Amino acid sequence: MKIFLDRRSAKPLYLQIRDRISSLIKSGALQSGDRLPSIRSLAQRLQVNKLTIIEAYNVLEADGVICARQGSGYFVNTQTFACANLQPTFSPAQNVIIKEPGGNSFFDMHVAAVHAQAQPGMIDLSFGFPRPPKNLTQIAKRALKETNALSKYDLPQGQLTLRRQIAQMLVHQGLNVSTEDLIVTNGSEQALSLAMSHFVKAGDWVIVETPTYFGAIAILENLGAKIIGIPMTPEGMNLELLEQYLRSHHPKLIYTISTLHNPTGLTTTQAHRQNLLSLAEQYECPILEDNAYEGLNFEPVPAPIKALDTQNLVTYVGTFSKTLIPGLRVGYIVVTGKHYQAILERKLLHDVHVSTFSQAIISEYLASGHSRLHLNQLRAENIQSRNIML
Ligand SMILES: Cc1ncc(COP(=O)(O)O)c(C=O)c1O
Repeated sequence: MKIFLDRRSAKPLYLQIRDRISSLIKSGALQSGDRLPSIRSLAQRLQVNKLTIIEAYNVLEADGVICARQGSGYFVNTQTFACANLQPTFSPAQNVIIKEPGGNSFFDMHVAAVHAQAQPGMIDLSFGFPRPPKNLTQIAKRALKETNALSKYDLPQGQLTLRRQIAQMLVHQGLNVSTEDLIVTNGSEQALSLAMSHFVKAGDWVIVETPTYFGAIAILENLGAKIIGIPMTPEGMNLELLEQYLRSHHPKLIYTISTLHNPTGLTTTQAHRQNLLSLAEQYECPILEDNAYEGLNFEPVPAPIKALDTQNLVTYVGTFSKTLIPGLRVGYIVVTGKHYQAILERKLLHDVHVSTFSQAIISEYLASGHSRLHLNQLRAENIQSRNIML
């Protein structure tokens, strides 16, 4: 098997190797069932690091053209030992290791989207904004009357009443959460940022789904993390590939959106959630579960991964931006166990606490009993919009 590498090319070496092996398979020079050279021998022959070969083989595996067999090496895929689950059916062509921010930055995209929203007649599909509740003005007036906390600072973790209400809401979703596990944040973007900065240092590997929410990638890039994008399958993140990267790269965090994944819309099954958590436990890798769209589902969804977490490995993030109103900037983070205090202290340094008024409005809204009705209406409208789109 001859592979020529162009070391001056902008294309990474592992992709050159992937392309060459793919074309050998397409041309028939490598046949179904043929064994590929071992990682060590190919690395020696091509004078590259073993990780380069591992990356090339991982991408080929994600492409569904080769398959690893326990203890025997890598083989060109055949019907007999094809790894059915490894063939993503709608994952975009991508490189598993995400090298550079692709194209526009989060800042550019965010600012462009905000400007675009101001244009007359614009239907904004960029952020998943909800229609605000009809009685928001009355709720805000009541909140202003009832809050005497505006004239002083509050705790960094947020108001106790609101934390109680959020905890109750989460208990309904199957989470075993108390007010001491919760921190109210400035939207879930801040929750992601607090958690990612806590778990990840510059140079650490981090696993994300590919594709994923661009605002999360932006935080990781800003931290100097090295990002591994595991392709999505119709069931969720490709778990076989995830395991390989957990084994080979020892990542410091797995970032996942388990319900109504942005941007694919996919909700993972109970089994997928359990398997993902089991892998994280086996390789002792914390999970950051972003559940920004929980509540907008048309059909019942399984309990979040956090509900299955008995080892405090999962940090859970939610928001009122997608179900109520994004401008109030109220989200939350659930941290059970030893990481809570460090994340809370980081929150204090960021902005002391979330606006007392914003917290009071959300709290008043949750207390008013209108939230269930509003959510039902929102879902009905979303189904209608979805049907029109299709
Ligand atoms: C998956 C996901 N997580 C988090 C966020 C951040 O939302 P916010 O900071 O408004 O809570 C978004 C926004 O679009 C998102 O799509």
